Amino acid sequence: MMTIVLFVFSYLIGCISFSYLLTKVLKNEDIRNHGSGNAGATNTLRVLGKGPAIAVLLLDCFKGVLVVSVAFWYSDSPVIAVICGLLAVIGHNYPVFYGFKGGKGVATAIGVFAAVAFLPSLIAGVIAIITIWVSRFVSLGSIVFLILSPFFMLYQFNLPLEAVLTSFCISIVSIWKHRGNMARIWRGNERKI
Ligand code: G3P
Repeated sequence: MMTIVLFVFSYLIGCISFSYLLTKVLKNEDIRNHGSGNAGATNTLRVLGKGPAIAVLLLDCFKGVLVVSVAFWYSDSPVIAVICGLLAVIGHNYPVFYGFKGGKGVATAIGVFAAVAFLPSLIAGVIAIITIWVSRFVSLGSIVFLILSPFFMLYQFNLPLEAVLTSFCISIVSIWKHRGNMARIWRGNERKI
């Protein structure tokens, strides 16, 4: 029973969209009607600027860290913790509070991966930052991070395989939301930063 409560809690925490809330408060606009239409930190950078974008990035990351921490507080199973992370990313991407139209889940996935396996996600994060720096595409760096993190987790031997496989599911859920970005990169008209 407690596990179900934990899963519902994780989804609902994921549903809180800080980019949506901040844009509503600071501009009285719906961020989903601007820029890429995505409710996330990158689009907050376009719509509100650097400070709010950093705030959104950190707060969305925190959602991931929070659900994993609460899961570990309840049980010491990394598998339960990563399932909670997956539900938070699903909540972020398909929020019940905002008509199921949310973000792409990258920042929340960063929080989940960092809380479960810090070193693998740090290495993946450094490679992702270099990718963004070279290509100027945040989406490409995000995809690189999402692919590499679970792969690097395979080398963290205290993590059960089920937790790593669930991490791959997080990446698939988030990469699925980048279909438009991938098509634009392919066509050469993806937005640069
Ligand atoms: O984290 C989202 C990022 O990868 C892409 O965002 O707004 O350029 O679609 P956006």
